[in-house]
This record gives sequence, C-alpha cells and structure tokens, in this order.
Amino acid sequence: MSSQMARLFLLFILLVSFTWLSFAFPSAYSNHGRGKLHKLSSEEEVLQLFQEWQNEHGRKYGNPQEKAKRFNIFQRNLRYINEMNAKRKSPTQHRLGLNKFADMSPEEFAETYLKQIEMPSNFESRKVRKDDGDCENLPDSVDWREKGAVTEVRDQGDCQSHWAFSVTGAIEGINKIVTGNLVTLSAQELLDCDPASHGCAGGFYFNAFGYVIDNGGIDTEANYPYRAKNGTCNENAKKVVSIDNLLVVDGTEKGLLCRVSKQPVSVSIDATGLQFYTGGVYGGDNCTKNSRFATFVCLIVGYGSVGGEDYWIVKTSWGKEWGEKGYLLIKRNVSEEWPYGVCAINAAAGYPIKKVSSASPLLSAAI
Ligand SMILES: *[C@@H]1O[C@H](CO)[C@@H](O)[C@H](O)[C@H]1NC(C)=O
Ligand SMILES: *[C@@H]1O[C@H](CO)[C@@H](O)[C@H](O)[C@H]1NC(C)=O
Ligand SMILES: *[C@@H]1O[C@H](CO)[C@@H](O)[C@H](O)[C@H]1NC(C)=O
Repeated sequence: MSSQMARLFLLFILLVSFTWLSFAFPSAYSNHGRGKLHKLSSEEEVLQLFQEWQNEHGRKYGNPQEKAKRFNIFQRNLRYINEMNAKRKSPTQHRLGLNKFADMSPEEFAETYLKQIEMPSNFESRKVRKDDGDCENLPDSVDWREKGAVTEVRDQGDCQSHWAFSVTGAIEGINKIVTGNLVTLSAQELLDCDPASHGCAGGFYFNAFGYVIDNGGIDTEANYPYRAKNGTCNENAKKVVSIDNLLVVDGTEKGLLCRVSKQPVSVSIDATGLQFYTGGVYGGDNCTKNSRFATFVCLIVGYGSVGGEDYWIVKTSWGKEWGEKGYLLIKRNVSEEWPYGVCAINAAAGYPIKKVSSASPLLSAAI
C-alpha cells in the first residue's frame, strides 16, 4: 500500500515539474533553433523538446508506435539542424530550425511538397528578348510588400498548389500596380477549373496564367475560398481581375532583376534544402549548380542586400510559420558557377501583363 502511495506521489511530483518546466522554458526552441538548442544532449531533454514542439504545432499522433516513429525522425532532424547551423560561416547565412516540418523525414517532405516541375512545350515561345521596361539605373533594393502590392502568405496544406498561389500572387501584384486595388485572388479556382494544370498533384504557373487570360478573369479568395483539395469547377465564378498576357524572362539574372523592379514575378526553384529553413540568406546548399531542376513554384516580391550579400525576397505558400514569416531570402548576383541562378531561380521566370485602364499611384514606379 505504502509503496503504491509512494509511486503515486512520485508521479504527482513528476507531473508538477513537467508542467512547471514547460512554463518555465517556453522559449527553449521557439527561437527556431537558435540559442539553447545545441546544449540539449540527453534523450529526456529531446523528448521534452518534442512535447513542447507538439504542443506549439498542435500535433497529435494516433498511437504510441506513430509517436515513437515521429520522435525518432525529430531527433534525427534536430541533429542535422544543429550540425548545419554549426557550419554557418557568417551571421547573414541561412539558419535551420525546428519548424512545422520537424517531424517529417526529408524523403517524406519531398514526397509531400516537392515534385520535379515539367516545362510545357510552348514555354520558350513566350520568352522576351528585350524587356519593354527601362532596365537602366535600377534601384538598389525593391520590396513590393512595402508598396502594398503583396497579400498575406498562405498555407497550401497537404496539396501541391504552390503553382496556383504563385499565379494569384503575381496577378495580385500587377493588379495593385495598375489599378491601385489589392485583392486576394482564388487559388482554388485555378485548382478546380484549369484542366491543363494538375490540381493538388502539383504543376507549373504557365498553363494557369493561360487559363486566367482565356477565361477573361479570376474570382477573389473571398468568393471562391481555398480548400486545399481538388474540386469541381464552380461555373458561377466571377471574373473580378483580368490579365492580358503572360511573358517569360530571358533566363538572365539581369532580365529578372529588371522585371522584379516593375512587378512581382513567378519563379520555380529547387526547394530540396529548404525543409527546415528559418531565415537568413540561402546560398543553395542541396541544389545542383549547373542544373535547371526545380521542385517548387513561388513568387519573387523584391530584392536587396545585407552584409555584402545580394538576395531575392521570395514569397512561399508554406504558411507564416515557415521561414521568415513565410518568406525566403535566396542569394542572387552569384558567379557563373550558377548559370541558372541559385537553385535555378532565373531559369523559368514569368509575369502577367495587364493593360493600363486607370491611373494609379504606383504606375510611375511600375512602367
Ligand atoms: C487532383 O487532380 C489531379 C488532376 O487534375 C490528379 O492528378 C490528382 O491525383 C488529384 N489529386 C487528388 C488528391 O485527388
Ligand atoms: C543536403 O546536403 C547535406 C550535405 O551538405 C546532406 O547531409 C543532406 O542529406 C542533404 N539534404 C537533402 C534533403 O538532400
Ligand atoms: C553584384 O555584386 C557586385 C560586387 O560583387 C556589385 O558591384 C554589383 O553592384 C552587384 N550587382 C547587383 C545587380 O546587385
């Protein structure tokens, strides 16, 4: 009897200290892997961290086997994150951390979120040899978010709809620049209605721009909300925002820089090394230098420099908890070792054209 009491008492003490611990050290990992992380050594400490991570991300597992499996992966990822962070050579270099993908193996991540992007055969025909815009004396930095031309970062969920969010983002940008209105547009309409793209099975931006052009417009997110799954096309979708054409940048960084100074631009990159990215300038670890291989479609919304490193500002569709509030900084202005840019970012950039119909305060900056 008394030994049972003692055991109960011990359990009680354990519970109390566990609860106290989780309140006392809420930031053990919330700084995305900086700070205390590297000091964790014992398996109990890592287990504690795993519990906290689960609480923060509302992650529950169906059974103890699944939890044990996830804990194993989490441990392996933590080791990898610490190793990579320890090799950082400068404060501006990118960091990895225990983000929402921390219980997925790299193989699962690739399976769920990345797939080789296929270029359509008529892609080359849209290439622009010379940009219509003025490409001399471009500003040192551009950030379309500051000009109110970028909507909130979205979360694609378990649906490979990155291509659709890249397309809505590019149209939202040019629509704001040309009309002065920032309107969040419907990625779900593209998933449901564009037969030439592949819904949640992934895709590229090219056909979806074509859909919006041919359809005479696209509906808003408010009218036609995102559901993160394939659906049937709503025939009553309204044509709220239209575009007139789609053009493709010539493949050079110079051409891309010029166009990004005029509007947000759709691009594709190889995102294999970005599972645990939590900020800083990504230099292309895990990307092949001499390759056009791409796995993720996203949106360049600006460029800048920090500590002598030049970068693109890239909006993703992995939610605000990923990266720098949903954004990625990726290196630009690199040597000829990267003929297609870091992670092939220059290789297949495209942008919508919208004819000017009314005066806008941003127009002088855009044209
Ligand atoms: C969604 O639709 C595409 C075709 O448009 C198909 O290839 C894919 O398997 C579908 N995905 C799901 C989860 O049903
Ligand atoms: C990325 O590269 C590192 C070595 O630099 C390697 O250990 C790791 O497995 C690679 N990750 C992926 C997802 O390929
Ligand atoms: C690229 O880097 C060089 C110095 O390394 C700098 O002089 C040049 O202005 C940079 N170009 C751009 C477009 O930022």
